[in-house]
Amino acid sequence: MWGHMNAARLPAAYPQYFARAEGCRLWDVEGREYIDFMCAYGPMLLGYNDADVNRAADKQRAEGDIFNGPSARLVELAELMVDTVAHADWALFQKNGTDATTICAMTAREATGKRKILVANGAYHGAVPWCNPYPNGATAEDRVHLIRYDYNDVASLERAVAQAGDDFAGLFVSAFKHDLGKTHEAPTKEFAQAARRLCDKTGAALIVDDVRAGFRLHMGGSWELVGVKPDLSAWSKAIANGYALGCVTGNDRFREAAGRIFVTGSFWYGAVSMAASLAAIAKMKQIDAVGVMQRMGQRFRDGIDAQARAHGVKLQQSGPVQMPVILFDDDAERKKGWLFCTEALKRGVYLHATHTMFLSAAHQAADIDRALEATDAALAEVARQFS
Ligand SMILES: Cc1ncc(COP(=O)(O)O)c(C=O)c1O
Repeated sequence: MWGHMNAARLPAAYPQYFARAEGCRLWDVEGREYIDFMCAYGPMLLGYNDADVNRAADKQRAEGDIFNGPSARLVELAELMVDTVAHADWALFQKNGTDATTICAMTAREATGKRKILVANGAYHGAVPWCNPYPNGATAEDRVHLIRYDYNDVASLERAVAQAGDDFAGLFVSAFKHDLGKTHEAPTKEFAQAARRLCDKTGAALIVDDVRAGFRLHMGGSWELVGVKPDLSAWSKAIANGYALGCVTGNDRFREAAGRIFVTGSFWYGAVSMAASLAAIAKMKQIDAVGVMQRMGQRFRDGIDAQARAHGVKLQQSGPVQMPVILFDDDAERKKGWLFCTEALKRGVYLHATHTMFLSAAHQAADIDRALEATDAALAEVARQFS
């Protein structure tokens, strides 16, 4: 097993293999049922196995998926992304988030003729050598043109821009600060405006990595919440509700450069995931999925806060309510965090102690309330073992 879904990285009680899923529920191969707060680490925004998305995908599958070129779904979906995403004048599709972030970096370099890419300390943009968070299997030369700054720290960003000098190609910002195991933070207006200003001044590309947060915070792009438009955005996870799709959106200034780079993949023109995405985005808008996730996320957050107070357990919930992380005080080794999650898991609720969690629009009040019964018992156990 590899990567973020390797159960060897999780406590022993966590299952590795799953059998099926529906809405916000997940069944492992032993037949145990969970109310899920990971949503496959993001993609399931409308819930697992969404009937409307599946219908659109099935119809396309009957006509064909992979041809010698794209289907008409490509044009329809590019138009829908441009209509939906505030900064977008064009769209380019791939399969994964890493494809999308890599294309953003290449487009920024091609457009500017410069090399330096700025990324925040602790931010994740994918697992290929230029941005892989671990050194294994990569060379120092792979990252020689990366410069680090601290998210939400304007002075540190200014220093990084100065270090890039006249070789500054692009600045990556996560939709919000969602580093593993760390308190999540919304971008401050000051930071977002400084990012825009520094890119405008130098001609570098401002790139929002919306792979994790895309369409969970705002249908127009996550930085609409701070009133700043990027030049390029990377999308994947939720845009086709679980069907494999990545997307780069960009403004007109970067259109020609995006057309000049050579990027491709055997399955990138696949029509099924594009048909799924068309149906998924239409449904997200129709049911106001962002609003549903906000209401359910707030219900979950308020419930846990009340339970933590009642049990005398100190914890911090951060991130948007629809993408929370729950971190316990005085828990550097995450023992409380994983005890809490393991106790919830025993009671049929799948949480994560360090990674961003995800609500879906399929979570209903009854699911949240049922999950809160499990978290109440789990917090009681944390209080018992750690007081
Ligand atoms: C913010 C962010 N960027 C990029 C990626 C990489 O996406 P993928 O795993 O689809 O390649 C991820 C994946 O978790 C992510 O969260």
